[in-house]
Amino acid sequence: MSVPHRAPSTLLNSRRSPLLVFAGQSNRPLAQAICDHLGVPLGHSTTEKFSNDNIIVHYEESLREGDVFIVQTFSTPVSDSIMELMLMIDAAKSASAGRVTAVIPYYSYARSDKKDSPRISIAGRLIADLLQEAGADRILTMTLHAPQVHGFFKVPVDHLSADVVLADHFKRSVPDAHTGVVLAPDAGSIKRASQIARRLDSGLAMIDKERLSDTEVRPRALIGDVEGKTVFIVDDEISTAGSLVETVNIARSMGAKDVYVAVTHGVYTGPAIQRIAALDVTQVASTNTVLVPQSKLDGSNGRLAVLDVAPLFADAITNIHTGASVSTLFT
Ligand code: R5P
Repeated sequence: MSVPHRAPSTLLNSRRSPLLVFAGQSNRPLAQAICDHLGVPLGHSTTEKFSNDNIIVHYEESLREGDVFIVQTFSTPVSDSIMELMLMIDAAKSASAGRVTAVIPYYSYARSDKKDSPRISIAGRLIADLLQEAGADRILTMTLHAPQVHGFFKVPVDHLSADVVLADHFKRSVPDAHTGVVLAPDAGSIKRASQIARRLDSGLAMIDKERLSDTEVRPRALIGDVEGKTVFIVDDEISTAGSLVETVNIARSMGAKDVYVAVTHGVYTGPAIQRIAALDVTQVASTNTVLVPQSKLDGSNGRLAVLDVAPLFADAITNIHTGASVSTLFT
């Protein structure tokens, strides 16, 4: 949803602190697209690696008193992405930035949000601690694996949702989407599925998954009616596509007609692309929170599509910068 605002040139210069946007290496095309929507240039910075694997970042322009936004998604190589962001935050603070917002479109460690086996780290909280220790004043992110991960941070977090983008995509793809059914792959995704079903004015169904071990799950039953209907599967992310294959198989076995998939984060690790290429679905769409390389698009048998969330991030940055409400973007 677009928020009414004045022309960027007037609006973004109306505060004493200039709006400055920088990016790490993980998803520069998204950062550039956000800047294009904002009407500001992407700031100049460099990142290098020494021969001993240490990273050094350097801003090539002044940040003094600036309202600085650093765009960095946590994609492969995840540890380098996180380290680079922390160095950029620390360097910005040392360079007298007025305020630093870490813009993290995909916070991958949100999956590590509880102690579900002995002697492990709740890494989602640890990374939150480290970002704040580095000097982040605010966080802007999208579709955390579990919304309560927000609570790991003591600084303000603006948690965007891609639901409106996913729902609009389904509506464009299937003109009579209201006759279809949104399918939640597990109980954890029922709220998201329900919100998208309301936007489509469609039916709703969910899969009851049985946990076999800490790492293995098996679909037990599909609750709802998908027979002869177009099914819209929604999820927070696709990593190996293991969950997706199970979800599609059970939907097909229950008589689903066409299957469309849309998720926020298209991480596509390991066998994901081969699995998707062989999957009995019309399309698998994800947003550009994670950069999907052309080789993966090419290998997907024409199944993958990418949806743009840069306008949402640009609107959120505008509202944060001007002190306007960000919650209008959630509805
Ligand atoms: C699970 O709780 C999540 O919502 C996703 O379904 C899961 O992270 C996807 O992972 P994979 O694609 O490896 O099955």
